[in-house]
Amino acid sequence: MLQGKKIIVGISASIAAYKAILLVRLLKKNGAEVRVVMTQSAKDFVSPLVLSTFSNHPVWIDFHENNVWNNHVELGLWADAFIIAPATCNTLSKMANGLCDNIVIATYLSARCPIFIAPAMDEDMYKHPSTQQNLAKLQSFGNHILSVNTGFLASGLHGEGRMSEPEEILLELVENVGRGRSWQGEKVLISAGPTQEAIDPVRYISNHSSGKMGISLAEAFYLQGAHVTVIAGPMSFKPKFSGINWIPVVSAKDMEQACLREFPSSDWTIMAAAVADYRPVTVASEKIKKKENTLEISLEKTTDILATLGTQKRSHQKLIGFALETENEEAHALDKLQRKKLDAIVLNSLKELGAGFGMDTNQVHVFTSSGERHSLSLKSKEAIAQELVNLFQSWK
Ligand code: CTP
Repeated sequence: MLQGKKIIVGISASIAAYKAILLVRLLKKNGAEVRVVMTQSAKDFVSPLVLSTFSNHPVWIDFHENNVWNNHVELGLWADAFIIAPATCNTLSKMANGLCDNIVIATYLSARCPIFIAPAMDEDMYKHPSTQQNLAKLQSFGNHILSVNTGFLASGLHGEGRMSEPEEILLELVENVGRGRSWQGEKVLISAGPTQEAIDPVRYISNHSSGKMGISLAEAFYLQGAHVTVIAGPMSFKPKFSGINWIPVVSAKDMEQACLREFPSSDWTIMAAAVADYRPVTVASEKIKKKENTLEISLEKTTDILATLGTQKRSHQKLIGFALETENEEAHALDKLQRKKLDAIVLNSLKELGAGFGMDTNQVHVFTSSGERHSLSLKSKEAIAQELVNLFQSWK
């Protein structure tokens, strides 16, 4: 997610410095080039040898070593992003006031790239007006301040002040400096997950859709620079990135209203949701009590949202559906492609091993209105989403 990005990790003297090791590993694992700078006192908390091993580069602690200047100006200019993690009270104060007495601050003052700051300290220190003032000042300079977590603190107290986890820092960096540009300026609308159709106040009809495929698609588009909106039925997943616009809905009717509202302004719409085809004609206002041996519930058809969008589609818009089939897969998918006036349809077959609801993997076939066919072999839903986005890219 950070392929080829040049990132400096600056470490100051906090017990949370141990997390910097995990951060460096995570950044490397995600394709970044990493350089580490740390303060003298940070050495008491984390070994420079470990950091240089994981970053594959010497760690800079002093302004010079063996009569050679550690050129922090060049390093600052080299970077695509600089993350100071952990940032202690002392370091925040120096950053806010330009007190340049160590290599971390010198590199910070030399850097022209986006700066990210992950504070770490005890709750009272964090909440102290001087710290809050320094953070506000640093934010006003355009720096990104990561929020602290609440939990067990090194002092033994419980409260606010824990440094963000390496995974949270990674996502912040990806959102801000890791996104591609191939879909920049494109508005993508994705529906995902199941819908729930109420029977009474405590029961509903639904299906096994987990929403994973839709979320993976949303993330893949977002990472390529698109503006992404997800209309999401009830599900336990959420996208990793806070920049993805998230519209939660419950029933097919809610999803229909949200889709009709968002569709006119979208360039690409992908209906990955498993929308209920039928809903109870009436919803009981009180819990239905257990009386007879059998219970009949009358159902009525919901609106076919995708088909409705197909009739409203303008020439610059692309509309893509999903088809989940258990028999006669290709014929059914081609029929939906044509009937719902789609540009393409992605076929999932429940018969194919590793594909379908709740799985982490999928394999799909894509059919387009111009007669193209593509088969994407079994892989993770993230990888399928990535391939689909690349395929759609070739149709732009
Ligand atoms: N779809 C929709 N509104 C519905 C039902 C389905 O927008 N009320 C969309 C789905 O999001 C999917 C496509 O239509 O993109 C195909 O859904 P699917 O359930 O495979 O097909 P149906 O049209 O519902 O037909 P059937 O259930 O008979 O297979």
